[in-house]
Amino acid sequence: MDRLLIRGGKKLEGELRASGAKNSALKMLAAALLADGPVTISNVPHLRDITTMIELLGSLGVEVVIDEKMNVEIHANTIKSFKAPYDLVKTMRASFNVLGPMLAHYGQAEVSLPGGCAIGPRPVDQHLQGLAALGAIIEMNEGYVKATVNGRLQGAHILFDMCTVGGTEHIMMTATLAEGTTILENCAREPEIVDLANCLNAMGADVQGAGTGTITINGVPSLHGCAHRVIADRVETGTYLIAAAATGGRVKIRDANPEHLEALLSKLREAGAEITSGADWIELDMHDKRPKSVSLVTAPYPAFPTDLQAQIIALNCIAEGTGTIKETIFENRFMHVHEMNRMGARIRLEGNNTTAIVEGVPRLTGAPVMANDLRASVSLVIAGLVAEGDTVVDRIYHIDRGYEQVEEKLQNLGADIRRVASN
Ligand code: EPU
Repeated sequence: MDRLLIRGGKKLEGELRASGAKNSALKMLAAALLADGPVTISNVPHLRDITTMIELLGSLGVEVVIDEKMNVEIHANTIKSFKAPYDLVKTMRASFNVLGPMLAHYGQAEVSLPGGCAIGPRPVDQHLQGLAALGAIIEMNEGYVKATVNGRLQGAHILFDMCTVGGTEHIMMTATLAEGTTILENCAREPEIVDLANCLNAMGADVQGAGTGTITINGVPSLHGCAHRVIADRVETGTYLIAAAATGGRVKIRDANPEHLEALLSKLREAGAEITSGADWIELDMHDKRPKSVSLVTAPYPAFPTDLQAQIIALNCIAEGTGTIKETIFENRFMHVHEMNRMGARIRLEGNNTTAIVEGVPRLTGAPVMANDLRASVSLVIAGLVAEGDTVVDRIYHIDRGYEQVEEKLQNLGADIRRVASN
């Protein structure tokens, strides 16, 4: 298992390019199962989660061709099996999203239930209720969901009980091949949902309203192949902006979309950063200053994303003043807090572990640390960058799930960081 060794105290300075969005690309790989012709997705990040999804498609017999630039071409019509096995689904929840597309296109699908994960129980009830409303016959057997349909799925009016990104995407893509019109209400509005809708429309679907609370899908009998470029990863972009701010540095991120990061950019300005941006770049300059603490509540887009909560706590650890961070999306997303406290941070959890009160200290001290989720792990890297001395971040396979070339990108910004294989 690899580790990252970080010697803290270097200011991050320089430029980097944002990778394609993991959470868009994953859903598009699943959506490719809807098409009769080849679907080519470009700007796909080279990440472990993407490899897992490609492996899952391969296990179904689907031919996937990848070139050296990570253009991924999926030929769904080569499918031979309709069963997504536990071994692959358990390692990544997004793989559950192949259920609806397989069902809508081929009338049958069997996918393992994903189960819990490190950040909370994360049920899939909204996915299953949505599929049932479209006419799927659903049976549960030995940890698998088996879905079938007689003929085509039927358009329906569906009101989600809660704002769910994966649920909105799953039902939106499935309904593209249903007969008639589907109206989805109380939808999540994340940019990745808009990106997926654009990809579906390029395949010949008729999806309107993605990015708002109501999405209308006029079903079509079949979808064709298409070529689509994935949007920039706003969480990766945000992570590097926070890292630069925490170190008092300056960074310019190219191929990024500032419109997708308004909640973060306004918090970083509050922390004392100067931010300038253009259509596809963002520049942050902290002018060598110590950040000021910020307070925030995570909530569905366009509010502050849960996927940047751990990173902003790392910034608050060494900021001036006290910040209050409330997590409202996931139940168990403060694992980094205990590790940061081991590095000398002063964080206490309140409100049944839903709120972190972070009292800033002038500096952290390096320590061996680890976490068992992606964003918590990367937040420990940021803590290591601002700590005095050496930090070893263990279990970094979590980081490799969501950050492309993390140490190269940080080294290019001047960080003292390297990867070592542990015995
Ligand atoms: N929920 C239910 N029932 C459902 C679906 C969701 O109760 O059927 C609950 C969840 O347990 C959670 C809340 O609703 O408490 C929101 O979950 P959501 O469905 O929105 O999350 P997701 O689709 O499972 C995606 C991202 C996450 C990101 C969340 C929130 C992907 C692959 N994952 O998860 O990304 O945190 O939306 O924005 O798109 C990450 O990249 O590190 C990551 C965890």
